[in-house]
Amino acid sequence: MTTPSLPFDLKPSAQPVSDADREAALADPGFGRHFTDHMVTIRWTEGRGWHDARLQPYAPLSMDPASMVLHYSQEIFEGLKAYRQADGTVAVFRPEANGERFQRSARRMAMPELPVETFVEAIDVLVRQDEAWVPSGGEQTLYLRPFMFASEVGLGINRPANEYTFMVIASPAGAYFPRGIKPVSVWLSKDYVRAAPGGTGEAKTGGNYAGAFLAQAEATRNGCDQVVWLDAVERRWVEEMGGMNLYFVRGEGEDAEIVTPQLTGTLLPGITRDSLLRIASDLGHTTGEVKISTDDWRQGSADGTISEVFACGTAAVITPVGSVRSAEGDWTVGDGQPGPITQRLRAELLGIQTGQRPDPYGWMHRIR
Ligand code: PLP
Ligand code: COI
Repeated sequence: MTTPSLPFDLKPSAQPVSDADREAALADPGFGRHFTDHMVTIRWTEGRGWHDARLQPYAPLSMDPASMVLHYSQEIFEGLKAYRQADGTVAVFRPEANGERFQRSARRMAMPELPVETFVEAIDVLVRQDEAWVPSGGEQTLYLRPFMFASEVGLGINRPANEYTFMVIASPAGAYFPRGIKPVSVWLSKDYVRAAPGGTGEAKTGGNYAGAFLAQAEATRNGCDQVVWLDAVERRWVEEMGGMNLYFVRGEGEDAEIVTPQLTGTLLPGITRDSLLRIASDLGHTTGEVKISTDDWRQGSADGTISEVFACGTAAVITPVGSVRSAEGDWTVGDGQPGPITQRLRAELLGIQTGQRPDPYGWMHRIR
């Protein structure tokens, strides 16, 4: 199906930040602290559909206090990255996959679906305009944040909003975990759950993250970097982390089996997760989407059958998990250091994303 794309009204900023200020931001970007000169907005209203697509200077929004999103959280978002390629051009990793997930999130939250072509075009328009903000070198990237919210004014809850705003903003990003590829420690959350069957867990919607902050604070109190969420019903099946999916390596070397918790409807279907299933299988590993319990994890770590565990996601790339803490005990994964398979997969994925390795899957979308 081809949807005619919307005309974008381009209104570039008359006062972009100076080269010196931009270079200063790019020298130590952190995560989500600096934003580029522009943003994209597209509006949707009942009866009229998508309209008024524009690129304009990055600026605060003015909102009515009764805008529905502020009360009932009808909001979804995406996260993806533009990478400076080895040849100096810029490419975005799998934007169509993010566009498709954005549509699935929209359906779950009773919001209108933006055509994938328009989603990708909005990204093209912004990255083309703000190309100077795409860092080069190291693991620095331009993180892209498309999102959509209910902009109708009103407090009724008998129906979803009849007006929405879609936007894309961009933020230069360094490594998500400032300590680099050092393994993270994780806390198994037993008192709080992220998502229940039939809920919104597989949608990328703000409320899932709002509900997670308390458990993240608990993890920090217990000396851990991140929370691992368990299933809501039995509280023993491993689901995912706050912003990353999980992978378990069983065995070692070429025969190692690489598995990830199956998508049960309560965890986010990560695009990095999906990509690694392909890469690992093409490297000759057996892969699987499985049920894995906290007991399996503890026992497998103790008897050595689980040799490595890592987390993966757009922001975090691939990060080893070195140790686990829970109300029922603590344990170390492998020798607590980044394992060889974790490092190999990370190099393969980053190689494709930065254009240093061939892209046999056609995942990189070039910005022209
Ligand atoms: N799980 C959650 C809850 C996330 O927020 C993310 C980040 O987007 C992921 C997993 C990983 O998904 P992706 O690989 O598409 O970034
Ligand atoms: C991402 O990796 O894009 C995420 O969504 C993680 C987090 C910053 C929300």
